[in-house]
Amino acid sequence: MRPESLMMSHGYKPSLSQGAIKCPIFQTSTFVFQNAEEGKRFFEVAYGIKEKDEDEELGLIYSRLNNPDLEILEDRLCLWDKAEDCAVFESGMSAISTAILEFMEPGDLLLYSKPVYGGTDHFINHFLKKMHINSIGFLAGESEEEIIARIDATGNGKRMTMIHIETPANPTNALIDIEMCARIKKHYSTDEKPVVLSVDNTYMGPLWQHPLKHGADLVLYSATKYIGGHSDVIAGACLGSKELIARIKGLRTFLGNMAGSFTAWLLMRSLETLKVRMDQQAVNAEKVAAFLNSHAMVEDVYYLGNIAANGTDQEKEIIKNQYTSYGAMIAFDIRGGEKEAFTFLNNLKLIKLAVSLGGTESLAEHPQTMTHADVNPDEKVAMNITEKLVRLSIGVENSDDLISDITQAMNAVKLKPVTENDLVNM
Ligand SMILES: Cc1ncc(COP(=O)(O)O)c(C=O)c1O
Repeated sequence: MRPESLMMSHGYKPSLSQGAIKCPIFQTSTFVFQNAEEGKRFFEVAYGIKEKDEDEELGLIYSRLNNPDLEILEDRLCLWDKAEDCAVFESGMSAISTAILEFMEPGDLLLYSKPVYGGTDHFINHFLKKMHINSIGFLAGESEEEIIARIDATGNGKRMTMIHIETPANPTNALIDIEMCARIKKHYSTDEKPVVLSVDNTYMGPLWQHPLKHGADLVLYSATKYIGGHSDVIAGACLGSKELIARIKGLRTFLGNMAGSFTAWLLMRSLETLKVRMDQQAVNAEKVAAFLNSHAMVEDVYYLGNIAANGTDQEKEIIKNQYTSYGAMIAFDIRGGEKEAFTFLNNLKLIKLAVSLGGTESLAEHPQTMTHADVNPDEKVAMNITEKLVRLSIGVENSDDLISDITQAMNAVKLKPVTENDLVNM
C-alpha cells in the first residue's frame, strides 16, 4: 500500500489503548516496568550495552528516550522516504545540528551547498567555527571536479567527514545534484572514515524528492513546514539507516532535544492529509508562477517549473532525475529594490507577511532582510539573495484569490515607481 493509505493506522494498535481509533497523547514522563529485570533489560538495549534480539522492540522507559507517540510518528515518516529508521526532534534546527554534531569532530571539514536556510548557515559559519569544525561551501552549477579541487586546495580533504546539502535551496530554489555529491562522498570515504551525506529535504517535503534513493545517508526535515503543514508546531526529523539513526538517537537522548508527545500527536494528525495538502499546494503554485512569469513588475521567477523549461541542461537533468513535482515554493525578483519589495509585502491581504513555509496558508517574506539576514552580505549577492527578492510559500487557498491578492499588491507598487527606467519598462 502507498504511504497516504497508511497514515491513519500504521504502527498503532487500538487494542493497546482501550480501542481508541486514534493514538492518544501519551502525556507521561516515565513508564512503569513490570519488574526490575525488565527495567535492566530495557536499559541494556537502550544504552547499547547489549545487542537487541532479532524481534525485540525497545521497551518504553522514559519520554526523553522513547514514547509511543514519537515511535509511531517515526514509523510513519519512514514510509514516505523508504527509510529504515527516523528520529524526531523538537525543531528542524535541532535535527540538523544534532546530525552534524554526531558525525563531526574538531578539525574536521564540512562541505555544504550554498545557499542553505539562514539558521543552518549561522550554525555552520558561527557555531561550528567556534567548535573548530571547518567548512567549505559550493554553489549550484559547480562541477564535481571544481568542488574536489577546492576541497583538496584546503589541504584538509582527509578530514572531510560530512557533506550537507539543501536542494532545492531556500530561498532561491537552486538545485544540487545529490548523485554528484554521493560521488564526492565516495571519493573521500575510507573504511575507517565513511563520509556522511545529509540532504535537507524541507522544501520538497516527504513527497516530491527522496534523497536516500540517490545516495544520501540522511534526510533532514524542518517538520514545522509541509509535515506539520498548519503553521502551529515546531519540529524536525532525521531519517536514514538503522545504524546511523541509532547514533543520532543516542546523541538526542543526551542533548534531550526530542519532540514531546503532543508535538508528535499533532504531526501524526498532519500526516493524514500530507498528500492532499501538498498536491493542492503544487497545483496552486503552478498557476501563481505562470501569473508572475507574465507580470511586468517581475524580473525573474525562481520556480522549478521555470527551470524545467528554461534551465541549463544540467538543471533539467536534475529536475528529471530528482523531483516528482515542481513544488510549491516560488521566489521572484521584483522590478526595483527593497522599497518595491516591501511595498508589495505590506500590501498583501490574503497572503500573510511571515517567515516559514509549507503551511496551508500562503506566506510571503523578504529573505535578504529576514530569513537570511545573517548570511555574509557578499555571498548573498552571489546566491541571488538580493534586495529585490521576494519568497512565496503557496498554500491551499483558491488560486484565483491568491492571484487577485498578488495583483492588487503589485498595483500598489506600480503607483510608486523608483526610477524613470522602471517607468519605461512597465
Ligand atoms: C530549509 C530549512 N531547513 C531547516 C529549517 C529550520 O527548521 P525549524 O525552524 O523547524 O528549526 C528551516 C526553517 O525555516 C528551513 O527552511
